[in-house]
Amino acid sequence: MSDRSDAPTAIVRLADYRAPAWSVRHVALEFDLGIDRTEVLATLELSREADEPVRLNGEGLELLSLDVDGRRLGDGEYILANGVLEFAVASAECTVTTRVALRPAENTAFEGLYLSGSREKGFLLTQCEAEGFRHITFFPDRPDVLSKYTVTLRADKARFPVLLAGGNPDGDGDLPEGRHWARFVDPHPKPSYLFALVAGRLERISHDYTTADGRAVALHIWAEADVIDRCDYAMDSLIRSMRWDERAYGRNYDLDVFHVVATHDFNMGAMENKGLNIFNAKYLLADPDSSTDDEYRHVEAVVAHEYFHNWSGNRVTCRDWFQLSLKEGLTVYREQSFSADMNSAPLKRIEDVALLRRAQFPEDAGPLSHPVRPSQYSEINNFYTATVYEKGSELVRMLAGHLGADGFRRGMDLYFERNDGRAATIEDFLGALGDANGVDLSAYLGWYGQAGTPRLTAEGRHDPAQGRFRLTLRQRTPATAGQTTKKALPIPVRLSLFDREGRALPLRLEGEAVAGGTERTVVLDGAERSIVFEDIARPPVPSLLRGFSAPVILECDYQPDELAVLLRHDPDGFNRWEAGQQLAGLAYDDARDGRLTGAALTAWSQALADLFRDASVEDALLAELLTPPGEIELVERQAERDPDRIRASRQAMLRALAQRIGVDALRQRYDRLREATSASLDAASQARRQLKRRVLDLLALVDVEGATHLAAAQYEQAPGMTDRLAAQATLATHAPEAALASIAHFRRRYDDNALALDKWFALQAALPGDGAFARVRALENDPAFTLKNPNRVQSLIGTFARANPTGFHRADGAAYRWLADRLVAIDALNPQVAARVATAFNGWKRLEPVRREAAHAAVSELAARKDLSRDLTDILARVALG
Ligand code: TRP
Ligand code: ZN
Repeated sequence: MSDRSDAPTAIVRLADYRAPAWSVRHVALEFDLGIDRTEVLATLELSREADEPVRLNGEGLELLSLDVDGRRLGDGEYILANGVLEFAVASAECTVTTRVALRPAENTAFEGLYLSGSREKGFLLTQCEAEGFRHITFFPDRPDVLSKYTVTLRADKARFPVLLAGGNPDGDGDLPEGRHWARFVDPHPKPSYLFALVAGRLERISHDYTTADGRAVALHIWAEADVIDRCDYAMDSLIRSMRWDERAYGRNYDLDVFHVVATHDFNMGAMENKGLNIFNAKYLLADPDSSTDDEYRHVEAVVAHEYFHNWSGNRVTCRDWFQLSLKEGLTVYREQSFSADMNSAPLKRIEDVALLRRAQFPEDAGPLSHPVRPSQYSEINNFYTATVYEKGSELVRMLAGHLGADGFRRGMDLYFERNDGRAATIEDFLGALGDANGVDLSAYLGWYGQAGTPRLTAEGRHDPAQGRFRLTLRQRTPATAGQTTKKALPIPVRLSLFDREGRALPLRLEGEAVAGGTERTVVLDGAERSIVFEDIARPPVPSLLRGFSAPVILECDYQPDELAVLLRHDPDGFNRWEAGQQLAGLAYDDARDGRLTGAALTAWSQALADLFRDASVEDALLAELLTPPGEIELVERQAERDPDRIRASRQAMLRALAQRIGVDALRQRYDRLREATSASLDAASQARRQLKRRVLDLLALVDVEGATHLAAAQYEQAPGMTDRLAAQATLATHAPEAALASIAHFRRRYDDNALALDKWFALQAALPGDGAFARVRALENDPAFTLKNPNRVQSLIGTFARANPTGFHRADGAAYRWLADRLVAIDALNPQVAARVATAFNGWKRLEPVRREAAHAAVSELAARKDLSRDLTDILARVALG
């Protein structure tokens, strides 16, 4: 468990980085595993790198013995304080042996060695990133100490028939008294955060894989017996990921075995431990009866993400935790590219940009804002953020765009070659990409060090006499928490110009002899830049930032009819969606200010109504086009946030859209989609389900009764979870009384399926309105609810606090006080989870005065407590500042 906050909070600073004083060439670990008590014998071969005592991290460990070069150290010969074991050694090399005892069953924080599931049936596993290894043994627990590992596990054979650790198997056998052992040797030096073991009763599915460079690899996916038949999709995804990394990056797997394990008790999504990935079951298990289409895609993406870490993270790791995005941003980028190749590239881009705007932009605009490479932290677990992951990926994408596909591949090859087996920095990454291409990319370093979302303004001026169009680009980044002065960053702007009929115009820039194509990328690398286009007879409609070429907020005074041109005609699916989102923003302003016949609302709904009838628009894209920005993104469009008003305005604009399309057209479309319903997972079937859901939701706004009947029937007849859950959501939102029966049915039907129950809790936690809070409190009393399971906490409490603005942000502030109360209870069990849920308070300062007052009171009262974890204290202290 993490320190309580009365311990002094140390701030770790990037500027203070110093190379390790001692390296560890080899570590041998021997585990005598037990649920109540586990003993760990560690033998470290240390080499001196600087003239300093040996310092080993260790937390919550019972030290049984400490030997240096075979000599037992007595009480006065070492210091153990504040999580550091320190002793002096005269020689340049030494062997340190420690014996410690742990109590896995008491570890509710799920960091280090812990128990998943019940004492009778559960299994033991580890989670070490970022600093969990120090909860297992004394060690220099920092990512720049790379060692070779030999791991021996011993345990009761009946209780722990399966014993796994990272690396290649190196023997196993029986021991007296019904015990057995297994040994693993990892030939690749790795940092301690990539260590893992698993022990217990698990089943497996297997596949023999041969890498492109000829290595035979046994792939094993492990899960408890009741869910092992839901692992096939993960295995398919793993095989696809391995092939893809061979083709796209020339990267092969490098051990004889690869294990993947599913657990229901996990703080995050999944973990890339060398040779032994461990997954939150939510991102590994999938079957048609209990998983939605979205969940299938998440499984594919997360399996790929963790596998890709084997090169971007494991073979090349991070020098220190400030470089976290070096592995995470890069791996998200690799995973996004893979998913784009496996599915639809424009739809993937839409999904990723929507996530960035929903999760990262608000983070970067509030008190938790930090650069992709932070300069300081008090608790590193709080920096596994949308900024480090998603914005980090956008930075890699900009670099890849800058270098082009071949140049980026050259750069990545050089990066892997130079840094293989090393702990690297962002500078190493930019250096390799630049050197491989003979360019200097150091200007992009600014993106890694500067927080906040740049505002890009674009202003167009057409000169009819000269036939010229001058586009002026300017950038400005507002001050963020603790970082007031901002500099200009290189912003690549991919652009095209369209005429009013939606034709892309040939682009000839001032000084060029002939036009070159209809799309260009110009880089704004100072505060301002103007570009002059020749041969432009009439005022064009600029399509800017195509493909979302930089993670910025574009501010451009478009007229609604200009955006409608792009929404109707842009040949690129992503840009079409993007124009629709911008136009929807203006339409929202109309709805909010009561202009139900306003120009923007009219242009938006009319364009969509036309596209709705246009058979050439694909189902999946149409579903996305029909989805305007969510309530959380729309917050940005008013000075003060009143969640009830935001929701009402958004509903009003959707109703205007539904009316414009018309009840009959919606019904007919629904009927046609329903007739084509199947349980198939192919893209066309998924697209139909997606669109059917949007159409039903729109229909509910103009014909509640009709939509209720359709939804009830859809729930009954659904061939899979996607249709079942969508119907339930529509019913629960629009006809709460009619939904009660299906909600009760779902609860019974999935009583033994934890992941399905999570969805059941989450669906109800997200239902808007005044009754939401009482509903959530009633659900806390459901026998299936527990604060001990992170997925369950996230599904009920996390969903309510983050995804239910009208429910959580009650004007009476009752939900704020309730959340504060729950955070204290969660924190006592699991600080990482408490800290994550607490980020729901981010943005309280933008609330309207009554809510602001109530939220601030709840946060500052909580922040003043002295008995909370460092994780939660850190979030609260920053959030309280506003
Ligand atoms: N490295 C993991 C990833 O793939 C993140 C992660 C998993 C993690 N478990 C964790 C981070 C626990 C901190 C604590 O992104
Ligand atoms: Zn990752």
